[in-house]
Amino acid sequence: MSPVSVSTNRVVPGPQEPEEKTYHPSDGLFTDAHVPDFDAYLALYKKSTEEPEEFWADVAQEFYWKKPPSGPMLQYNFDVNKGNIYIKFMEGAKTNICYNILDRNVHERNLGEKVAYYWEGNSPDHHQNITYNQLLRNVCRCANALKLLGVKKGDRVAIYLPMIPELVYTMLACARIGAVHSIVFAGFSSESLCERIMDAQCNILVTADGVYRGDKLINLKKIASEALERCKESMASCVQKCVVVKHHAFRTNTDASNKLQVGQTVKLYGLLTVYDGFLAGKNLNRANVKFSYIQHLNGVLHTVTGYMLYTSLTFKYVFDYHHDDVYWCTADIGWITGHSYITYGPLANGATSVLFEGVPVYPHVGRLWEIIEKYGVSKFYTAPTAIRLLMKYGREPLQRYDLSSLCVLGTVGEPINPEAWLWYYDVVGQQRCPVIDTFWQTETGGHVLTPLPAATPLKPGSATCPFFGVQPAILNEHGEELEGEAEGYLVFRKPWPGIMRGVYGNQERFESTYFRKFPGFYVTGDGCRRDQDGYYWITGRIDDMLNVSGHLLSTAEVEAALTEHPSVAEAAVVSQPHAVKGECLYCFVTLKDHKEFNRTLMEELKRKVREKIGPIATPDFIQNAPGLPKTRSGKIMRRVLRQIARNEKDLGDLSTLADPKVVEVLFSQRCEAAA
Ligand code: WTA
Repeated sequence: MSPVSVSTNRVVPGPQEPEEKTYHPSDGLFTDAHVPDFDAYLALYKKSTEEPEEFWADVAQEFYWKKPPSGPMLQYNFDVNKGNIYIKFMEGAKTNICYNILDRNVHERNLGEKVAYYWEGNSPDHHQNITYNQLLRNVCRCANALKLLGVKKGDRVAIYLPMIPELVYTMLACARIGAVHSIVFAGFSSESLCERIMDAQCNILVTADGVYRGDKLINLKKIASEALERCKESMASCVQKCVVVKHHAFRTNTDASNKLQVGQTVKLYGLLTVYDGFLAGKNLNRANVKFSYIQHLNGVLHTVTGYMLYTSLTFKYVFDYHHDDVYWCTADIGWITGHSYITYGPLANGATSVLFEGVPVYPHVGRLWEIIEKYGVSKFYTAPTAIRLLMKYGREPLQRYDLSSLCVLGTVGEPINPEAWLWYYDVVGQQRCPVIDTFWQTETGGHVLTPLPAATPLKPGSATCPFFGVQPAILNEHGEELEGEAEGYLVFRKPWPGIMRGVYGNQERFESTYFRKFPGFYVTGDGCRRDQDGYYWITGRIDDMLNVSGHLLSTAEVEAALTEHPSVAEAAVVSQPHAVKGECLYCFVTLKDHKEFNRTLMEELKRKVREKIGPIATPDFIQNAPGLPKTRSGKIMRRVLRQIARNEKDLGDLSTLADPKVVEVLFSQRCEAAA
């Protein structure tokens, strides 16, 4: 089965709009690519869908198995009418993910002296290189510490740590002893932390005393103790022990450390002391290797075998990983992107990664570019929100650094508007590096729609083609499958190894969220368009779609039109009830530095949308938005924007909002009348 009908001919730049052109990676950049051209991609894709057993058995061969699978590679049911939904991959196989991604590198692949992580702290003065030998040793020490504290196989461990090496040690220590890690981004409030601890029924919490994010001090220990207090009040407290890691920033700086308050109820153990006590302690060896599994946000459950194979394989192909690469993913490990593409995928390949604790604009707006130069980063992976933020500062901050080491640029998290794509391509990649727009979800475990650097002709704004083993389809509202050029619901017809196995303790939620709407398919919840070449374009979450006079419009399309205007840095569009049209468009736009919001601009923006999409999409309201409400992983919270547009003051739970202050500003500047 061929997923696409794309022409592999080089497109001669013609009178087309830049984003309608097809872009090819530059010649000579990928002389030894794993997938050298589009035909090679098609051949491998064909094998992965027509002979999945052989395809995945080949991939599995590379890993250590304590016990091989007892049945077929893949068994599943995606049809609620035929019984329970389940996905089983390599059923009966036993292994240890930590062994495979660490010990194997040290003992079988001779990578002990290779750097696993260049840790770069929030302050440029804090950095540390960690080799595979050191990483393995520290993970073992941490595993011993957890065991000493009574953590057993199957126990859930809540991890509320900033991006410090101890976060990786702790998560892998859990994987090593068969405990389940539930990592909570260390920016969440005590309320959110408490909720997540209770959801996963965690027995132990690992946190740090505090952290600086930019120049802001965050007192993690205080938040953690409040969270535990809350858990206790709700009578659902299960946390017996709390471990506090002393952050590097406070080891010598007692002043800052003194600002942190110890909660009354937390029983503190110094993890580092425990570490030291067990420095020479027994290493876990193969005899201790156990089956373990991983749990992530929202109860999404991933299991070892499939997740390990899938994150490893996607990392290798999607970033065209080679041994001498320096790879950097700017996500936080608290999100799935960090789980899959900072920890498991890169380590499974024996890669060298940058582990960055800070933020893009501290202590200056060129921090990311400075780090790329410092470590000679070759593969760089970030989010559209970061790209749009950095675009605001123009080219100058980049011109101060040597970015010639870069050869692949990745993006994830949201549809990337062609404007941001082109800036990433032109200014960051200097028209040399392919931009790899990876579409995936916490639930999918790894990339599912994505270009491959040397193989896939690129179209700005399109996540292009399915990864190996992934079979997308587009359905209409009635569940009918659409062929050829089409737009509708993005679904998948078969599982791939990395797909979630369930929702922790809640089969009903698993089935109703992902499988009930269209029996026989996994439903992503995203809208999607397939173009004449078979390329996939994500149009945004289905719930965010706009219905104007009976026409379904995607937020991504309208936002892309607005951000094409040279004054606009970012845009978010929501629907507003309208007496005649049903719904109309209310747009929030963030301008680039030193640009002015005025009537002329509004008229230009309206014209832009009319020209790009059609008169039906002409915005009724355009509001200046100095900042947009975003989740802590950078996604725009359109629910909040809808409420601002409608002047609904009761905003409900805002704990996932990164900066609540922007909401007040937006309320104060609401458009009362149509533009
Ligand atoms: C969106 C992040 C368009 C999408 C890995 C998806 C994207 C949700 C892209 C999952 C992309 C992610 N293009 N949209 N390249 N990547 N999304 O679970 O709506 O945090 O369903 O996983 O982000 O977000 P999550």
